[in-house]
Amino acid sequence: MSFFRRLVVALAISAASLPVIAGPVQKPFILLPPDAVKHREAVKDIFVKSYSAYKKFAFGHDDLSPLSQSFSDGRNGWGASIVDALSTMNIMGLNDLFNEGVNFSSKIDFSHSQTSDTVSVFETTIRYLGGLLSAYELSNQKFPILLQKAKEVADKMAFAWVGNNDIPFGFLDFASNTPVISTSNIAEAGTLTLEWETLTKYTKNQTYANLALKSVSHIANLPSPLPGLAAQGIDPSSGAFVGGYVTWGGGSDSYFEYLIKHARLSNTNNNLFADTWATAVDSSIKNLLRTSTVGNDLYLADFDDSRTIRHIGSHLACFYGGNWLFGGRLLNNQTIVDIALKLVDGCWNTYAGTATGIGPEAFAYISSDGNFTGNGNPSSDQLAFYQKHGFYITASDYILRPEVLESNFYAYRVTGDSKYLDRAASAIDSFNKFLQTPTGFAGINDINDPNTSKIDDTESFWFAEVLKYLYLTFDDPNHISLDQYVFNTEAHPFKAPPAKPVYGSHTFFPSKPFALKFGPPLPVISPNPHIKAITNPQA
Ligand SMILES: *[C@@H]1O[C@H](CO)[C@@H](O)[C@H](O)[C@H]1NC(C)=O
Ligand SMILES: *[C@@H]1O[C@H](CO)[C@@H](O)[C@H](O)[C@H]1NC(C)=O
Ligand SMILES: *[C@@H]1O[C@H](CO)[C@@H](O)[C@H](O)[C@H]1NC(C)=O
Ligand SMILES: *[C@@H]1O[C@H](CO)[C@@H](O)[C@H](O)[C@H]1NC(C)=O
Ligand SMILES: *[C@@H]1O[C@H](CO)[C@@H](O)[C@H](O)[C@H]1NC(C)=O
Repeated sequence: MSFFRRLVVALAISAASLPVIAGPVQKPFILLPPDAVKHREAVKDIFVKSYSAYKKFAFGHDDLSPLSQSFSDGRNGWGASIVDALSTMNIMGLNDLFNEGVNFSSKIDFSHSQTSDTVSVFETTIRYLGGLLSAYELSNQKFPILLQKAKEVADKMAFAWVGNNDIPFGFLDFASNTPVISTSNIAEAGTLTLEWETLTKYTKNQTYANLALKSVSHIANLPSPLPGLAAQGIDPSSGAFVGGYVTWGGGSDSYFEYLIKHARLSNTNNNLFADTWATAVDSSIKNLLRTSTVGNDLYLADFDDSRTIRHIGSHLACFYGGNWLFGGRLLNNQTIVDIALKLVDGCWNTYAGTATGIGPEAFAYISSDGNFTGNGNPSSDQLAFYQKHGFYITASDYILRPEVLESNFYAYRVTGDSKYLDRAASAIDSFNKFLQTPTGFAGINDINDPNTSKIDDTESFWFAEVLKYLYLTFDDPNHISLDQYVFNTEAHPFKAPPAKPVYGSHTFFPSKPFALKFGPPLPVISPNPHIKAITNPQA
């Protein structure tokens, strides 16, 4: 071999083994325009109006019922809106409200449910455990009672892991500490790491992190219907998947979200999490990514139990753009970032195209390979809407969900492009115009009707997520920077250590389209709505 050839070979080998350095998530030196202050204050105003109504008619209960000027207790009656709002109050500098909320939280009795309902391990983890721990951190550990309360509720939830099961049961009876036997899903079983490992960080009790990690590791190691893409249903007793439904939407969503977020928050050297995330993304690009025939909108389709592509989308699934931006920057992979930005646009299009400027709960598309949604062909009205807007509405309600504005926030922090500020400003206008009631803010039944009737509930994630992401979009990008914090799926930020140079092994197992591992047709299960979707029973 000539010297030159040897040099080329040596360079090629070292280039191949050179790690891909993790990029910063945020674009450095973003300069906010002067009118950002005005929008930030408008969001704070919505928060204060909503929370004042909650205080007046529902304080200590889970949700405000803004139309009946009453309350509901769908989260075990521990005051979900207060705990869920704490981190947002801290970020907005609403110190009196924050202190009042800490005072309330210090007296919550987690020894039993205040209602007759059983306790959801997932919901309680993301809202209460996440809310308490994030407030503890954001207030510089000034209130040890928040950590104490976090420990109390987690010690009860630990009973969801029965015997040697890796997978926790989804629901617990807190009175008897026994699980309610039923099928769970990967969102419930795989959205625990950030909260439980943060609890371990402050209590030094490794058990908490281990419980969450054994559940997600188990899921990531099961043979999946598509590479990296776990099935939605899972049986905690056997540890096996139930059915083979694949989706980035409800019932699966935050399992995928937490794979890369756990890798970042923990800086673990175990590549399982970042690699499974990267494989899921790669496999989604090859198997699920579709383009609408009108408008060329990009979306991730579902893949059902009969191995058929369903051309459907949902508000819940629209977190994917933001999550792919976060992971794409950590893996320093421009392909993923570029697709993510198009996914963000596709989801924003479901807001831009409606009469209220707010997007629907569920929608569908037509692509060059079909229009199958599992639910019949589009009606003539839906087709006419589709021809105009590039998507059509299959569930027209808006229940104060965050995901579209969450991804819009990531897109702004990653690119610094002011078009994302314009979108956020337009959402603020729509909220003020269409969601406002004399008693705070309410969801609406039809996002495509300016005279829509309203829904008598203010979900706690309105305070935790929607208003926090909107506010931060217009705030100094160094405040709660995506390079210093990792948000849990309820938008509670956790402080992260400085980033590692490399996330994941960067050894791809290139996935083939439809590389199925299952033989015979799978038992059919209907796609579970994300548990967050269940509207609260009225008190
Ligand atoms: C805490 O709440 C109690 C009522 O539950 C009230 O008497 C007390 O003043 C509050 N303390 C603070 C510091 O807000
Ligand atoms: C750690 O937490 C687990 C789960 O609640 C508990 O069973 C165990 O006793 C705790 N260990 C210590 C040393 O406190
Ligand atoms: C970036 O991601 C794409 C999509 O998954 C993948 O095909 C490609 O190999 C990745 N590039 C690198 C350098 O890892
Ligand atoms: C939807 O798909 C069905 C079955 O392939 C087809 O008959 C129908 O024409 C399609 N409709 C539209 C609007 O593309
Ligand atoms: C909404 O209601 C107003 C006042 O009742 C009415 O004038 C308007 O036509 C309605 N708009 C639609 C789109 O129904």
